Amino acid sequence: MGYVLVEKGKIVAVSSDSIENTGSVEIEGMGKMLFPGCFDPHVHFRDPGFTYKEDFHTGSLAAVSAGITSVFDMPNTNPPVFTVENLEQKRKIAESKSVCNYGLFFGAGEKNVEEIKKAKNVPGVKLYLNSTTGNLKMNNETVWRDVFQLGKKVVLHAEGETFFRAVEIWKEEEFPCELHLCHASLRSEIDFVREMKKNPQAKGKISVEVCPHHLLLTHADQEKYGAICCMKPLLAMKEDLIALWEGVSDGTIDFFATDHAPHTLDEKKASDELGQTPIYGVPGVETFFPLLFTQFQQRNLSFQHLANMTSLSAKTIYHVQDKKGLIEVGFDADIFMFNPSVKTNVEPQKFFSKSPWSPFDRWDITGKVEKTFVGGRLVFDQGKIIDFESRGNELRFLN
Ligand code: NCD
Ligand code: ZN
Repeated sequence: MGYVLVEKGKIVAVSSDSIENTGSVEIEGMGKMLFPGCFDPHVHFRDPGFTYKEDFHTGSLAAVSAGITSVFDMPNTNPPVFTVENLEQKRKIAESKSVCNYGLFFGAGEKNVEEIKKAKNVPGVKLYLNSTTGNLKMNNETVWRDVFQLGKKVVLHAEGETFFRAVEIWKEEEFPCELHLCHASLRSEIDFVREMKKNPQAKGKISVEVCPHHLLLTHADQEKYGAICCMKPLLAMKEDLIALWEGVSDGTIDFFATDHAPHTLDEKKASDELGQTPIYGVPGVETFFPLLFTQFQQRNLSFQHLANMTSLSAKTIYHVQDKKGLIEVGFDADIFMFNPSVKTNVEPQKFFSKSPWSPFDRWDITGKVEKTFVGGRLVFDQGKIIDFESRGNELRFLN
């Protein structure tokens, strides 16, 4: 049993004894759990450019309906975030549409080092080393070196070999920046990061995330279900999935992310037809926490560890300056109430996303997000968005 008092968007008291109520609204949560709002450090809200798939408003509604109160949006929009002007354009979009808090990644292009230098308040610079949605793949290793040398955090879309090569170059350049591997999917990547973290020069500078689909699905699912199980990196083997869970348990993997990459179901179905190039990506924010909670319960992993990997860890590794990620006095009241007792199913038709489908359609899940607060404002309550109007803040980063 515990009590939390929130005033003006901040947590002002936390106690196991009842707190004297001086006229505030009281919310009863007997039998429920309170978690710090999730950070999802990897989403594609498609705004600007592909707003028929998602936009910052619908993406953020989908996020808060699932306990995610802060997101970091990827730069493969149209135009991609390659210039300060593009960044400012996206900033205006997020400011006017986002119900949750947000950070905006910058993209590394062939000739935009000067722009990257000028970019202010970004979580990092995304460097694509493999093909995926958006054609931002960068083969030129000189550019990799130049981007590393800028000293901003570099966030890699790299898969196996390209990741190992990037780390080789990072070493040759003498570790000039922090390096983060997005959506790890292979045993070889996890084993490699585990070893790197023992290297005193790399320690504290290398991090890795994993997505629920790589933890729960394998290549066999793509063979069986086709495009709705097709994303980059592709689903791997059972052996890889086992290694990812080992990495979750032993702390090699730093945090979870969704890689929420919505496309319409029609687009996905069309890509199943012969001769079509695959269209990579699956929506993920609305299944994120319930799937992970269910797994942590089944695998007897601690919910403290879950809370860390869905919230505080990403906030710390990305050097978010706001006080978020814990339910403690002085922290922002980004919180959600979770009912761990109910058994439900994934129901994509109820999603707030513009792309309401899921590779986890009808999967059994334990627990349900019941209420989500962003900065103390109740925005989602018992299946409904109750505040469409309030807006989250841009998170503050070190650079
Ligand atoms: C992402 C997308 O659709 O933007 N697709 C995906 O399969 N994950 C891009 C990416 O993160 O690779
Ligand atoms: Zn992505």
